[in-house]
Amino acid sequence: MRDVAPFSQSAGLPETAQSARSGYGATLDRVETYFDQTATKTWERLTSDAPVSRIRETVRRGRDRMRALMLSRLPADLTGQRVLDAGCGAGQMTVELAARGADVVAIDISPQLVDIAELRLPPEHRAQVTFTSGDMLNPTLGRFNHVIAMDSLIYYGAGDIGGALAGLEKRTDGTIVFTVAPRTRMLMAMWYAGKLFPRSDRSPVMIPHAHMPLAHAARAQGLRGVLRPVDRVTSGFYISQAMEVRP
Ligand SMILES: C[S@@+](CC[C@H](N)C(=O)[O-])C[C@H]1O[C@@H](n2cnc3c(N)ncnc32)[C@H](O)[C@@H]1O
Repeated sequence: MRDVAPFSQSAGLPETAQSARSGYGATLDRVETYFDQTATKTWERLTSDAPVSRIRETVRRGRDRMRALMLSRLPADLTGQRVLDAGCGAGQMTVELAARGADVVAIDISPQLVDIAELRLPPEHRAQVTFTSGDMLNPTLGRFNHVIAMDSLIYYGAGDIGGALAGLEKRTDGTIVFTVAPRTRMLMAMWYAGKLFPRSDRSPVMIPHAHMPLAHAARAQGLRGVLRPVDRVTSGFYISQAMEVRP
């Protein structure tokens, strides 16, 4: 299945109307252009064992720690559980989830990254994973026991993240684990710099969030479960905050 249409909780609106209303469609377009064209090779390399610069090495280590932290929020044995890897990228989390026994739906808006993820999946896990390109919020993906979204919501505003969580919650029995860019001094400075100097390559800009405003925004979007901060990983230029929603 290859579904590349943007989907928002306001299903039925054409994409332009969604963009004008919430910015979700516009962000999704940027994300797709960036990961499916501009940065595909960089991302492929960062997520492999190939040598990278010292700075990217710190990012790689930070991402390894974040993956382990997020996985620690789910049961160790996921046998028979249906898990959504939302914004799977090159599939590093997908492999870990499958190795724990999960039946994984791995979706990303970048068809190229989904192809890489599919190629990298060890053959012994092929029967457990369904790869799809498209919007992670598409409700036709069905129900899940758990959802994991590592660094895939970091480009969205609070209302869009809240809407995403509220929509996913309706179809998830257990935990939704996700990350945001925290409001640290460095990330806020980068964010303001991005506003002052808008990028010409249409690359998406991370939007830092703090826990309480995000929790309020999510509640306003209809989230019923409790949104809690989990822990933060800082490793060189990689700074990411894990959060979770439990019923
Ligand atoms: C920083 S990468 C992280 C990839 C992967 N989760 C990981 O940690 O290795 C963010 C990914 O989220 C995907 N993404 C962002 N928003 C998405 C959406 N609404 N639907 C599907 N994929 C999305 C991007 O295409 C990109 O591959």
